[in-house]
Amino acid sequence: MYIVPKLEDYSPAALDKAVQELLTAARQEAEAAAGENEWRAFRDRWMARKNGILTQINDLWLKAAPGPSKREVGARVNQLKVQVEEYVTVAQQRSSGSASKSRLESERVDITLPGIVRPLGAEHPVIKTMNEIVGVFRAMGFSVAEGPEIETDYYNFEALNFPPNHPARDTQDTLFIAGQEKKPQRDRLLLRTHTSPVQIRAMLNQPPPIRVVVPGKVHRADTADATHSPIFHQVEGLAVDTNITFCDLKGTLDHAMKSLFGSNVKTRFYPSFFPFTEPSADVQVTCFKCGGKGCRLCKMSGWIELLGCGMVDPNVFKFVEGNGYDARKISGFAFGMGVERITMLKYGIDDIQLFYQGDVRFLEQFG
Ligand code: DAH
Repeated sequence: MYIVPKLEDYSPAALDKAVQELLTAARQEAEAAAGENEWRAFRDRWMARKNGILTQINDLWLKAAPGPSKREVGARVNQLKVQVEEYVTVAQQRSSGSASKSRLESERVDITLPGIVRPLGAEHPVIKTMNEIVGVFRAMGFSVAEGPEIETDYYNFEALNFPPNHPARDTQDTLFIAGQEKKPQRDRLLLRTHTSPVQIRAMLNQPPPIRVVVPGKVHRADTADATHSPIFHQVEGLAVDTNITFCDLKGTLDHAMKSLFGSNVKTRFYPSFFPFTEPSADVQVTCFKCGGKGCRLCKMSGWIELLGCGMVDPNVFKFVEGNGYDARKISGFAFGMGVERITMLKYGIDDIQLFYQGDVRFLEQFG
């Protein structure tokens, strides 16, 4: 290890020799410094203000130099400082380079290892069917609307021509939000029992003509079993314009059923009752299992009931009259269907609960 000698001889030749020895020693130490810690030790040994080699030179060479040699010695000591600083800098770059090399080495990633396989999800069969139904009507020029799942008594019942206390309300077992006894009945909140309230909301939003389908979730106070669920899905439809007739309703739904179940199904419109349509009908399609001959699926009737529909009752238009729905000038049809029921029929599923259990073995069959 280099130790700073005292200078006896201040001749230029002796000075050169001393400087050369010092620089050689500095260069060798610089080259030997590998890694961050050794570099720091090297820097401090040479450049520390207190007792570093450069400081020692100041004391042992410059301060001790006789008067006439001071200039000469001063110039050399300054050059030495510059040179040693450069060695320190170069050594730093080299040692940090090797540090990052070793870090890179330890963080090396083997890109040939097999990756983590994240299986792709699939559309839920209920959503898939709902989108299919919506798609069929969109192709016929219907737009799509949505409404809130927490609804007021007014939109869910009253404006759809279910008067307060009318027994027609009993056909839909309703889940009410608690603690609203102080509110007027029409403002009380409930979980919508059907998507029909969005008919009213859509007509308030847009004057006639209107053609709209409404997919969404609905709730009823039903006990879960193979064909019932307290939460299920519906797609609602509404078309209002001048001169809309029952023929338009029949043609539209016949086309939709053929699109969903195959072009060989036939439809029939069976008299029914809903407070918000007059006349009302149930749409039935020929049984797609037995083709109409009669089997267990269609209960030997040859027909399967799929949805409710009808011509919009003029009483309903009274609630939206202000937005241009004048029952003397316009007419319309409406329909509503249960998405789970249609999905079950389409795929031959015999238990509605399968949709809600999240069993991948069931769900992945619909990808
Ligand atoms: N909202 C009815 C229900 O949930 C279904 C329905 C029937 C909707 C006839 C309609 C319709 O728009 O015209 O039972």
